[in-house]
Amino acid sequence: FRSRTPPTSSLPPKPAPQPIQFPIQPLQRFQGSSASIKRPREIASFSFDDNHSYLEDDSGIQYYCAPQIGADLCEGFERFRYFEEKEDPHLDTLLTRLVSLEKKGERVRADFVTWRGMVTKIMTSPYDKFASFEMFATLHDGTIYIEDDFPSRLADCASQSQSQHSQPPRNPHSPQNRPSQEMMTYWGYKFETLSLLPTPLIETSRDFIENRRDMVVDNHAQYVSVITTAFGPHSLILGGEVDGVWDAKSDPDTPDPPDYIELKTAEELGGDRRDVLKFERKLLKFWAQSFLLGISKVIVGFRSKHGILRAVEVYDTNKIPGMVRTGTGCWDGNTCINFTTAFLGHLKQTIKDDGVYKISLKKNGGVVEVSKIQERGTGKIISKEFLGWRK
Ligand code: A3P
Ligand code: MG
Ligand code: MG
Repeated sequence: FRSRTPPTSSLPPKPAPQPIQFPIQPLQRFQGSSASIKRPREIASFSFDDNHSYLEDDSGIQYYCAPQIGADLCEGFERFRYFEEKEDPHLDTLLTRLVSLEKKGERVRADFVTWRGMVTKIMTSPYDKFASFEMFATLHDGTIYIEDDFPSRLADCASQSQSQHSQPPRNPHSPQNRPSQEMMTYWGYKFETLSLLPTPLIETSRDFIENRRDMVVDNHAQYVSVITTAFGPHSLILGGEVDGVWDAKSDPDTPDPPDYIELKTAEELGGDRRDVLKFERKLLKFWAQSFLLGISKVIVGFRSKHGILRAVEVYDTNKIPGMVRTGTGCWDGNTCINFTTAFLGHLKQTIKDDGVYKISLKKNGGVVEVSKIQERGTGKIISKEFLGWRK
């Protein structure tokens, strides 16, 4: 990476320091077998209830039960109970959970603490030339804390925000009628509702299972797993949402603790190679997101252009990179892991002082930039509760 030293001048105001750059290309330097990776180990979990209030328990967990093929994912759109973050959540709930662990006597330390989504963005950026992100980081007591830029995430989701109020397309199945962005967002949550149970299958009535299609789709409740992992010498504590567990009681071979699953929707594949390429590109995000938390299965609901569920496929997360290697070869998992390892090392070398740093990648930019944007303190990245506890 290149680093330019700011010109020395005794005249105020001080020129803003130049950002430290980390070029993504050439990717060849990250090829080869991957840096040693520690298997993610869960250290805690927590939930959000139906009002999206924090709960320090497992109540948000759900169990997989295969959905009915042929279901219409548009159904119930007008009743969607859509949750959208109104205020920047920073790392607050994750840090609350860590404080609670430490109060019980566990020592939780790592080089990095962040949401899983931040690392997914970094990990997938080598193979997505349209990737862009803005994150903020701060060093405190030997750990780098990284959070998302909240306004930019709102912009990402701007099209979703109208969901509760907007009307569904008059005839979502009409070939002339392209589904709206809101409808496509709804399909993802509808697929979850059709594929999950709040209790294990064995404790669930047949009636409940058959009536899942009439349930109100609601994304307020969530289950979050907190894990520790490592990329080469860099240790991380990550928090991330988990969609559900592979139902242990309906599958006697399921290990204990049960396997986590990630649910996804994708457009069904036509015979075209371009369809396969589009799907395998999507698999990069599915894989990275699941790999980071140690989620062992990715379950994809293939839907028609207009939201009819046509098929469900269960993928072993660990087999996805091999599948793509022998398929279109559009990305390489080891390269993603090595890139991330090198990038985390770069962050450690760059974020060494007090203050707040911005980490950004511009669309088509090809270079991740790190620049100091605040000389002192930790911004709002670290909650008062956490700072008070670690004082
Ligand atoms: P799909 O991705 O299966 O279509 P997740 O898969 O990460 O658990 O998220 C569940 C669903 O939330 C997604 O389903 C999608 O419908 C919606 N969603 C999540 N993040 C989104 C985003 N940034 N933009 C639009 N929809 C999003
Ligand atoms: Mg989810
Ligand atoms: Mg999902």
